Amino acid sequence: MGFQIAIDGPAGAGKSTIARIVAKKLGFVYIDTGAMYRALGLFFADRHVPLDDEKTVESFLPEADVSLEMSGGVQHVLLNGVDVNNRIRTEEAGMAASKVSTYRAVRKKLVECQQEIAGNLDVVMDGRDIGTVVLKNAPLKIFLTASPRVRAMRRMLDLQELGQKADPDEIERDIRARDRQDMNRTESPLRQAEDAVLLDSSDLSVEEVTERILELVRERRSE
Ligand code: DC
Repeated sequence: MGFQIAIDGPAGAGKSTIARIVAKKLGFVYIDTGAMYRALGLFFADRHVPLDDEKTVESFLPEADVSLEMSGGVQHVLLNGVDVNNRIRTEEAGMAASKVSTYRAVRKKLVECQQEIAGNLDVVMDGRDIGTVVLKNAPLKIFLTASPRVRAMRRMLDLQELGQKADPDEIERDIRARDRQDMNRTESPLRQAEDAVLLDSSDLSVEEVTERILELVRERRSE
C-alpha cells in the first residue's frame, strides 16, 4: 500500500498549489480531483445540458470520459480524449463543477476513477471528499482553509496571471456561493474528516504550510 496524503478544503484555500509542491518534494503522484469535476462541468456546459436537471445530467453521463495524463511533470485532464487543461480554470467551469458534483451518479463515477488511479501509489490527492470518502484510510489527512477574503485575493492573482479580468468582490461572492453549495449538498458535503489536521493558511506562506505538512508526513511515517 502506498502512503496517501488527503488534502481537503474550500475553494481557493491553496490546496492544489500546496499539494503539487508537497508531491514534488516527496516524489509522490499529485492528483487534482477538482480538475476532474471541472472537466465534467465543461462536458455538460458544452452540450447545453441544464445543470440543475439531475435526470438529464445523469442520462448524458455515460458519454463523458474523464482521464488524467502526466506529461512534462504536469497533470493534464482529458475529456473524451481531448486535453481541456486550458479550459477548466474559469469561474464558470468551477461553478458548473460545483453544481454537477452535487449529484450522486456523478460522484460515484469520479470517486471510482480516483480510487483506481491512486491504487497502490504514493499520492497527494486534493478535493472536497478525499479524507471522508475517496481515501478514507489515508494515514495523513489535512483540512486546509483560509478566510473567504484571503481566498478571493489569491484567486484574483491566479486569474490575473492567466490574463483574465478579475474583481475581488465578485470573486469573494462566488467563493462564498461555492462554499455554501459544497458544504450543504447531501452527497459527500465538504467537511473536515474526524482524523484530519486543520491548517488555516490565512496568515501562513506557501512555504510555511508546505513545511508543516512535510513535518506531519515525517511524523506519520516514523510511527
Ligand atoms: O477544487 P476545485 O475548485 O477545482 O473544484 C471544483 C468543484 O468541484 C468544487 O466546487 C466542488 C467539486 N469537487 C468535489 O465535489 N469533490 C472533489 N473531490 C473535488 C471537487
